[in-house]
Amino acid sequence: MSHDEKTDGEGLKTSPTLDRRKQQMELQRKIEEKMKRIKHKIAIISGKGGVGKTTIAANLAIKFAETGSSTGALDVDITGPNMHKLLGIRNRPQVDPVTKEIIPVNGPLNIKVMSTAFLLESDYTPVIWRGPMKMGAVREYLGTVNWGDLEYLVIDLPPGTGDETLDIMQLVKPLDGVVVVSTSQEMSLIDVAKTINMSRKMQVPVLGIVENMSTFVCPSCGKETQVFGRKNGVEELASELEVPFLGSIPMEPDFVQQASESIPVIIQKAESKAKTAFNEMFKSLIGEMLE
Ligand SMILES: Nc1ncnc2c1ncn2[C@@H]1O[C@H](COP(=O)(O)OP(=O)(O)OP(=O)(O)O)[C@@H](O)[C@H]1O
Ligand SMILES: [Mg+2]
Repeated sequence: MSHDEKTDGEGLKTSPTLDRRKQQMELQRKIEEKMKRIKHKIAIISGKGGVGKTTIAANLAIKFAETGSSTGALDVDITGPNMHKLLGIRNRPQVDPVTKEIIPVNGPLNIKVMSTAFLLESDYTPVIWRGPMKMGAVREYLGTVNWGDLEYLVIDLPPGTGDETLDIMQLVKPLDGVVVVSTSQEMSLIDVAKTINMSRKMQVPVLGIVENMSTFVCPSCGKETQVFGRKNGVEELASELEVPFLGSIPMEPDFVQQASESIPVIIQKAESKAKTAFNEMFKSLIGEMLE
């Protein structure tokens, strides 16, 4: 018996390594069990930062909940969590005293929300974690959060093809697929092509690409300007890579207001071009999910 091995009450050998292995297996079992109780799981992804993943993730969650479906929203952007802000959440999750599981925060339209932001002291606290800690956190969000029975879980990912993204692709089984967000700028299109190829390598379906911040309509003169690069750039990439194009969402001051004042755009009363475009995109996405 090695120096760190002991025997448990039944005379079986244990060691810190064995105990850790057992805990990992138990967490894996819990992840599988919890994911089975969520009917549809969708991740919002992009190789490029700042293109509107979180904006689209938060509003998609609202949209699913508006249809009367039980919905969850998980922010897996560990170093820059901000989906809770777009959902207007200010409180923190509780821990179930018996099961020790995290009870997600009840958001607008009863969306169940979990984010690293809830574990931090304040909005200004940085998360300085290396890969294994980030991976540990993703596992905890999937396996020890009491999601219950849900129709939809919308997962917001950080930019790129890093640890959290890989983890979600490997652990969330089955994942309905990813919704890829891009602007029409060449720089974004290249990064997004990598994301799509990564999804294919990981055998995760690509539900489609959304073009965000496509145009800006001047409120004074009504002139429409293509903000990022060439017209139809995202649609052309979708056709080149043979993935569905879900639609274009224009620049919309309401989205900026959502970020500043935490009012989800989709539940705002006023109609807007972006809201109409978002609803169209949502219809296309549902169509792809039903295929
Ligand atoms: N259609 C839009 N019109 C106007 N502003 C938008 C639109 N979409 C997103 N924004 C704004 O762009 C900024 C970036 O959006 P968001 O945070 O959703 O991007 P992201 O891809 O999640 O970024 P990150 O890579 O940092 O996670 C935010 O200030 C958001 O309010
Ligand atoms: Mg984001």
